[in-house]
Amino acid sequence: MLMVANWKMNMDRDAIVSYLDVLSKEGRWARWCAHGYRLLLAPPYPYLDFLMHELRERELPFWVVAQNMCAHEKGAYTGEVSADMLRDLALNGVILGHSERRRLFGETDAHVAAKTALALSRELVPIVCFGETEEERQSKDYPRVWERQIAPVWKEVQKARASGSETPVYFAYEPVWAIGTGRTAALDDIREVAWNLRESFGHECSSGLLYGGSVNDESLSVLVEKGTVYGFLVGGAFLDPEIVLRSFHLL
Ligand code: G3H
Repeated sequence: MLMVANWKMNMDRDAIVSYLDVLSKEGRWARWCAHGYRLLLAPPYPYLDFLMHELRERELPFWVVAQNMCAHEKGAYTGEVSADMLRDLALNGVILGHSERRRLFGETDAHVAAKTALALSRELVPIVCFGETEEERQSKDYPRVWERQIAPVWKEVQKARASGSETPVYFAYEPVWAIGTGRTAALDDIREVAWNLRESFGHECSSGLLYGGSVNDESLSVLVEKGTVYGFLVGGAFLDPEIVLRSFHLL
């Protein structure tokens, strides 16, 4: 089971050190590894290298993923970060198509598909976000929104598979109406997503389904117990390492 802590534009070096101090105390992480949990940390770009260094020093087995990357390989793209740079830092993967990137920075389904192809070509695990807005939800045709967002990405995954790529791909269902609002999607909503992905794109697509949107330690416990998804993409709650530990029943 994957637990992704997306720090978004939060934290600094001191906060990262304190966070890791809490998580590493008394070898707590070893217990959750034994239970098959994997924690992935997604810090802002400037702290990627620092975090990797701290994890190595403390011999902590957490994965590190970026929150985004450029759809182009290299060149005159001021302010962007490439897949090769993420590889160079020995990162494990990258979050792609987060709704905040789509809504605030104009990312399209085509951008997300191009980034997925590039990530796979560099053996970076893509965590591809999708999900409907509140307005789309009201339209009742919201499963078409999921299909529209995933279809171009899935095409790239199929091409990569045909070229021999075995890098896993995870899809994170993040309904926009649930992100940072305190409204978590219901179990049935998530089951509906899993069913739709399986019907439209097959088992490989649905089996790596993650959920994100106002998850906290309580809602997470319920969803883990019901075995609904393969993992979670958590924002606000996982800025607090104590909540991470409570989520893993380690406090
Ligand atoms: O990437 C994380 C998601 O946007 C969820 O954020 O847990 O603060 O609602 P949230």
